[in-house]
Amino acid sequence: QKMKLCVISGDGIGREVVPQAVRVLHRLLPALQTVTADAGWDTFRQQGTALPAATLAAARDCGAVLFGAVSSPAYPVVGYRSPIVQLRRELGCHANVRPTLSLPGSGAAEGIDLLIVRENTEDLYVGEEQSDGDTATAIKRITRAASRRVAETAFRLAQDGGRRRVTIVHKANIMPLTDGLFRDAARDVAAAYPQIAVDELLVDTAALKLAQAPQGFDVLLAPNLYGDILSDLAAAFGGGLGVAASLNLGSEAAIAEPVHGSAPDIAGRGIANPVAALLSLALLLRHWWAQPALAASLEQAVRRTLADGIATPDLGGDASTAAFCDAVLVRLDLD
Ligand code: NAI
Ligand code: MG
Repeated sequence: QKMKLCVISGDGIGREVVPQAVRVLHRLLPALQTVTADAGWDTFRQQGTALPAATLAAARDCGAVLFGAVSSPAYPVVGYRSPIVQLRRELGCHANVRPTLSLPGSGAAEGIDLLIVRENTEDLYVGEEQSDGDTATAIKRITRAASRRVAETAFRLAQDGGRRRVTIVHKANIMPLTDGLFRDAARDVAAAYPQIAVDELLVDTAALKLAQAPQGFDVLLAPNLYGDILSDLAAAFGGGLGVAASLNLGSEAAIAEPVHGSAPDIAGRGIANPVAALLSLALLLRHWWAQPALAASLEQAVRRTLADGIATPDLGGDASTAAFCDAVLVRLDLD
């Protein structure tokens, strides 16, 4: 089966980091076929939609997607819908995976290597709110099916990544039916992975422990809202937006997505940090293409580049996006 990647640069620095990251990926996978596709604000202005049907078709056909970043209007625009939210939904990416690593030269604390696996489709994010003006209510929907599905992803990723422990995050003392269901479904799935330890934490305690000692965590499995908040908290330890990577994972497709936006303040100068995009591709290699050795060599090359003091300006260096990727290519360990 041919490996194909749908490349969506998007807007702003997406157009700078994505082509450079793909250049590095081609060295690791010389036979990789790439298909470029449009999405974002410029696309909306030119084509009247931020996610053209042709882009969706290309993404489905490839299965693997690299999504750079898009700009969103700061004011309501008729007909505009966020293309990344739509793409995750259309491709059935039910889990959001966000690692935090201690990278040299990034200002990150030492010894952190954690993975947050967040349910990506339900919880309070179903968007069902009601108000009579004085009382407002939102639906928090948790299903056994979605909870089991994301738990299976978390345990499989833990196993594939040689990790030892999964911590289930919930607030079942206050919400025994919803968060209790999430917890119980995750515990059921855990039974099939006897070699991986499982424990659980209330979300507030998890936040406290994460802030005190992020080194103490391995995999955190959380419903949508808690996962959203905890993953940004974890990113604060990892060296910032220039290095924060993510993967949206489903059974039919996976979208590698640097966490950052289009960064209009630095766009067009060729100085955006490509590490977030490179590490997102490493997640795609490990968890979608099942190429752990290639993933590790890419991560190792990024680590060595930073350890050698080469960095873009956001991390205090003076390397351009392209020069950083040149340095990564030199350090790729292809044995
Ligand atoms: P942002 O992530 O684009 O930038 C925040 C700050 O971090 C800026 O100072 C930027 O220069 C810096 N930064 C971000 N990534 C960097 C990188 N790779 N290298 C060096 N510096 C980096 O967030 P902001 O400014 O709030 O949003 C800008 C635009 O991006 C908006 O239109 C927003 O809607 C959109 N956005 C899109 C996202 C996506 O496509 N997934 C996510 C977040 C924001
Ligand atoms: Mg967030």
